[in-house]
Amino acid sequence: MDINPRTLAMDEDQVLAKINDNTRAVFLTHAQGFNGLSDRLVSELEKRGVPLIEDVCESHGATHKGKKLGSIGLASNFSFYFAHHMSTIEGGMVCTNDEAFYNAILALRSHGMTREIQNDEIRQKWIDENPELSPDFIFAYPAINTRNTEIGAVLGRSALPRLDANNALRTRNFTLLIKNLDPNIYFTDFVLEGSSNYAFNLILKEKDPALRDRLEKKMRDEGVEFRRGSAGGGNQVRQPYVRPYIRENEWLEYPEVEHIHYYGYYVGNYPSMSEEQVLELCKVLNSI
Ligand SMILES: Cc1ncc(COP(=O)(O)O)c(C=O)c1O
Repeated sequence: MDINPRTLAMDEDQVLAKINDNTRAVFLTHAQGFNGLSDRLVSELEKRGVPLIEDVCESHGATHKGKKLGSIGLASNFSFYFAHHMSTIEGGMVCTNDEAFYNAILALRSHGMTREIQNDEIRQKWIDENPELSPDFIFAYPAINTRNTEIGAVLGRSALPRLDANNALRTRNFTLLIKNLDPNIYFTDFVLEGSSNYAFNLILKEKDPALRDRLEKKMRDEGVEFRRGSAGGGNQVRQPYVRPYIRENEWLEYPEVEHIHYYGYYVGNYPSMSEEQVLELCKVLNSI
């Protein structure tokens, strides 16, 4: 489905319209630090008994009505890969308050092995149901090994105390950028409440390939590193790995995502950037 351009998350009307008897869960990505939730979406999902899974990889520290994203749905995932708000070089985490989900995830991160399960009752049930197997080697799920290491943990724990202060600086920078970008050139009407952006979003208003070329040239000339299509390669249904599963020209059914695919960018928003540097960046971007 398409996105809401003000939050870059899935459009809630389209999410609710697509839910049917086969829907097992809604997996919503909070893109680029924006809060993708509304009270209406959360309460409708609750009412319909559809679990929400929040992808918070790009939005550490962001909130919905003062509540941290990732603490609202059944479960959530975060990335600590080094392009994100905090890093363990590689790695991430899954959060949940659900006992059964938690124990399934413990097994899933370790080849699907049930001996990782910490709830004695659940672990014992697997053992009792599989008397022909060694209790130490019951593989419940097809899975891979995604356990992190002590080294990653040390890095993460030392980065964690700085996270809130860094997020505050990034929010200051992002707000300054949005205020100073030329609204005739760039889309600036984002929902900023609760956001925690690690990247500056640049979305050209017009579908103007010549302007886009000028912007890219300008950024290259000025040494401004950027990613076109915003995060992760733009419209995913255009990516080769998805193409075998989609309708012909299906990407045209998602005009907002298509716009970002061709005219959306992101540039790193580092806590070390000063206000002067942000204003200098705006000057460069507005001069195209
Ligand atoms: C929204 C989102 N989900 C998932 C991931 C994957 O995270 P990782 O690189 O830690 O596997 C990313 C990575 O950038 C992301 O931006």
